[in-house]
Amino acid sequence: MQRMNLKKFLMNKAKKEHIQLLRRSFEIIGDVMIIDLPEELEYLEKDIVDYVKEKHKHVKTILKKSGEVRGEFRVAKYKKIFGGETETIAKEHGCRFKVDPSKVYYTVKLSGERERIARLVRSGERVLVMFAGVGPYPIVIARLAKPSEVVGIEINPEAVKYFQENVRMNKVEGVVRIYQGDVRDVVPRLKGSFDRIVMPAPYNADQFIDLALLKIKDGGWMHIYTFAGEEEIDEKARMIERRFLSHGFKAEIGFVRECGNFAPRVNRYVFDVRASKVP
Ligand SMILES: C[S@@+](CC[C@H](N)C(=O)[O-])C[C@H]1O[C@@H](n2cnc3c(N)ncnc32)[C@H](O)[C@@H]1O
Repeated sequence: MQRMNLKKFLMNKAKKEHIQLLRRSFEIIGDVMIIDLPEELEYLEKDIVDYVKEKHKHVKTILKKSGEVRGEFRVAKYKKIFGGETETIAKEHGCRFKVDPSKVYYTVKLSGERERIARLVRSGERVLVMFAGVGPYPIVIARLAKPSEVVGIEINPEAVKYFQENVRMNKVEGVVRIYQGDVRDVVPRLKGSFDRIVMPAPYNADQFIDLALLKIKDGGWMHIYTFAGEEEIDEKARMIERRFLSHGFKAEIGFVRECGNFAPRVNRYVFDVRASKVP
């Protein structure tokens, strides 16, 4: 709702020929606002700052995206256009996450997805979250469900630092275990297998499916996030089935859902897939 108001305000300020450039690209993480403003609309910067100061008094810093989300850590480049402090505390589902969006990946846009996954977790499950970031999936799962253990793996040392602090802050030390490193090194060394593996991958999770299949239990669930055009969905599903079969599993695709836009005509999709051993 707040995003819509700002957009409406800017539509009155923008030149006619620029109105279509006003994308829905405002996000408030704790008290830090992130805006994604195309170059042609930079003349609106001062209006945005004035509007936010007036209407969102709790916002202490505004970061303007100056480069796309990129690299292994999936962090965008930002220019500060208001305020100072970039570290903040985001709240979701009764959990608190300390983050600095200029150093680590975090988006409120996936909070509904995190709750959806947490509600699927049954009592006593052992869960693996690859690409755990500052810990939102593991911590929401640990708080909303009753898993026996949630293992989170993350490669960005800054994100791991926040992940550790967030585990303490949300009092889930006994349940969530953190590994710093590349999933390609860490996963093969993990002992035992998992009832559920969540793969909120930085780009396409496709290349990590084989790795996850090394650790899934017979009857376990995998949540595979991937980017695709709508017309590629069936092809992705067939690819998942083939990868599962090559590891001796039948893939039962229970649910596919779009959960975010990535680029024009490219969306983020999640596939919930049950792995059953082929006899
Ligand atoms: C799209 S973000 C998701 C973060 C988190 N799950 C969330 O929802 O906020 C992907 C994360 O994977 C991490 N990452 C990228 N490549 C990795 C790898 N090979 N092994 C472990 N983590 C990796 C990045 O640093 C980033 O924090």
